[in-house]
Amino acid sequence: MAGFVDLGRLGGILPKTITLQPRPGNPPPRTCETAAGMLNSIGLDNDGIEEFIQRQLPYLASLGPAIIVSIAAKNQEEFVQMAARLEGVPGIAALELNISCPNVSGGVDFGIDAAACEKVVSGVRAACSYPILAKLTPNVTNIADIARAAEAGGADAVSLINTCLAMAVDWRKRRPILGKVLGGLSGPAIKPIALRMVYQVARAVRIPVMGIGGIATIDDVMEFLVSGATAVQLGTANFYNPTVTMQILDALPSALAELGASSVDEVVGTLEVE
Ligand SMILES: Cc1cc2nc3c(=O)[nH]c(=O)nc-3n(C[C@H](O)[C@H](O)[C@H](O)COP(=O)(O)O)c2cc1C
Repeated sequence: MAGFVDLGRLGGILPKTITLQPRPGNPPPRTCETAAGMLNSIGLDNDGIEEFIQRQLPYLASLGPAIIVSIAAKNQEEFVQMAARLEGVPGIAALELNISCPNVSGGVDFGIDAAACEKVVSGVRAACSYPILAKLTPNVTNIADIARAAEAGGADAVSLINTCLAMAVDWRKRRPILGKVLGGLSGPAIKPIALRMVYQVARAVRIPVMGIGGIATIDDVMEFLVSGATAVQLGTANFYNPTVTMQILDALPSALAELGASSVDEVVGTLEVE
């Protein structure tokens, strides 16, 4: 992205989730385009925590923005082991716990069960001194319950949403399009769901909410901020509009000014519902 984006202007960079051991990910095809979005079933393809620390993190840390390291693990002990390994490693601003990946077996277990979520977060809390963000899945009946559990476990913030479990089909071949059949839907198609969940969670917890899901324009960003997000992440939009983050940063001051504000803090959670 460095060829398209002045990376130094970003508030932070959240590299792809790492795991303790290297993972090859799922069989291809692993992505496909859908109406107003995309499906992916990457399956946490990554080189493992040691390769990340030795080779990838030093480059990322040299770029300037805060680096938030996303970790995923098979069980609570492994989450704790990873957090302990990362403790004290230079260049890390915070940890995001990916308890919500729909594309690996067991990947969402901690994100769909409030007690399991609280246990993982509290274990990581005790194992490191970094700020902890818990990344929540939309594939639950009541996301506010899971957010409250993350807060009770000691999370400093919650990030939401991860992708919505979905599928695509080639009916002529009578075949699913993704190699793993099911995948996660992202992009503008999921924005209204994400907005609804951010609104609900922001009213349920006292910790900050990081809004994610289909954000592609300054209007999207402003909608998430007034609905209760104190910060946002952009994923899918970067694929089809690599300069989207710069466009949004350029447009932010005048959008804030339209609401008579000069800082993001002044507009967060100011939605009027009565
Ligand atoms: C290709 C692809 C890979 C992703 N990999 C991860 C990941 O490794 N860890 C994670 O927490 N979320 C991952 N996500 C989910 C995004 O971080 C984000 O939660 C979701 O896509 C919704 O935001 P968006 O519509 O802006 O992409 C991935 C999404 C896509 C499209």
